[in-house]
Amino acid sequence: MRFIVAKNDEELSQRAADLIAAQVILKPDCVLGLATGSSPIGTYDCLAKWYQEGRLDFSHVTSINLDEYQGLTPDNPQSYHYFMNEHFYSRVNIRPENTHVPDGADPDAERACKAYDKIIQEAGGIDLQLLGIGPDGHIGFNEPADAFSVGTHCVALDPSTIQANQRFFTDGQEVPRHAYTMGIGSILRARKIVLIASGAAKKAPVEASFFGPVVPSMPASILQLHPDCTVVLDEAAAAGIRDRIETD
Ligand code: F6R
Repeated sequence: MRFIVAKNDEELSQRAADLIAAQVILKPDCVLGLATGSSPIGTYDCLAKWYQEGRLDFSHVTSINLDEYQGLTPDNPQSYHYFMNEHFYSRVNIRPENTHVPDGADPDAERACKAYDKIIQEAGGIDLQLLGIGPDGHIGFNEPADAFSVGTHCVALDPSTIQANQRFFTDGQEVPRHAYTMGIGSILRARKIVLIASGAAKKAPVEASFFGPVVPSMPASILQLHPDCTVVLDEAAAAGIRDRIETD
């Protein structure tokens, strides 16, 4: 596991974007596993800028997102599909048919999740998976549990996750209570993982995940077992582990 501690948000975003850009340059038809939330926004800004400057080409890239709220259609501004359109797809030359987000509009959870696993399998797995981390240590929407999940599944969101995500829901709209998420097994099979965490709220889950036991009650702790995982942090998120890591 490698750690990068960035001085500020700009550097954090650039360091994560560097790793994604390297992947796209080395393998133009790569499969990127992508995330939503606040953490990757600056990284998508960098990638879009580098594309606009002619330094990156996404025309052969496939993207497979981690998760989607159940019941939200892609045209709903609170959906993760909408987020991806706004922050990434519409700003680079990725082909719409090569972009994938779980079908939150499908009320049949089993069908939606099976279809998503088929997409991951047919794409040949994920070359680089970008992750954020929740205050409770979740990755994707894999909440603390008694066992690590394997494939895509429907989850009941934790009250802490609902509360953390309420900031994206304005006008009294409620955060959906369920979501479809890629499983821990699929995340762990990605050939490379890049996790971004910033801010003091991430200090505790970062410390517990990377220096605590590997347990399903702290889902991100499983990443300790991954052979190629890079954790990109700001000073606040790194505060609990600063004296235990070597950085480059
Ligand atoms: C988003 C996702 C979540 C977020 C996590 C952190 O697709 O899968 O696991 O990465 O909730 O969210 P932010 O970045 O908003 O702190």
